[in-house]
Amino acid sequence: MFGTMIQSSVEIAPSILAANFASLGEEVRAVERGGAALLHVDVMDGHFVPNISIGVPVVAALRKATTLPLDVHLMIQHAERYIGAFADAGADMISVHQEAAAHLGRLLASIRERGLRAGVVLNPATPVATLSEVLGEVDYVLVMSVNPGFGGQKFIRGSLRKLRELGELRREFGHSYRLEIDGGIGPENVAEVAQAGAEILVAGTSVFGTPDAAAAVRNLKQLAKEALTQRV
Ligand code: DX5
Ligand code: ZN
Repeated sequence: MFGTMIQSSVEIAPSILAANFASLGEEVRAVERGGAALLHVDVMDGHFVPNISIGVPVVAALRKATTLPLDVHLMIQHAERYIGAFADAGADMISVHQEAAAHLGRLLASIRERGLRAGVVLNPATPVATLSEVLGEVDYVLVMSVNPGFGGQKFIRGSLRKLRELGELRREFGHSYRLEIDGGIGPENVAEVAQAGAEILVAGTSVFGTPDAAAAVRNLKQLAKEALTQRV
């Protein structure tokens, strides 16, 4: 799944932040039916971002409910204290914010040492250049296309330029990270984010905020696929 093949496909990662937590199992089954490739899990601490969401016990419960890889997005301070707990709970991928890490290299290494995929996340106001020293040490880069903390916000268009820049750097330096985008993704912009190089598309509201989450995932996948075919 993570290799040197670039831009071969686009995967949809539904964000359970927008799901009905009282029936999470059913919500997960719906997006599995729709062809979701991953489950995106947003962890917020009320400090790094102005909202509190979910934590380790929910990851452990999801691990029992699905075989889909769990893509855990940590929006927390002191992420180094919690990597072990999220790994033990069953995370497959863990991403940490550049803005929240005092020792980013060490933090990313600690994720990889546990056999997990390590990702680094950029807030909309953080330039790609701040990652130059770690791009060779990450499995994926997550470009935030909203300011993190809440679902249902408006897509920030500057993220398209960042995706292209990260794609160019990958080619130039022979890196192998994948590109993920998160925030405000829906049928209206899925084509342009795919064409800008995003390979993992996180979608919360546009999936779980609809009456049929399975159909919503299927539709996003189809639109992304068509956009890539048109580009070639
Ligand atoms: C925002 C989260 C996102 C969010 C996306 O802080 O990181 O993953 O759930 O939700 P939508 O797709 O509704 O913007
Ligand atoms: Zn997220």
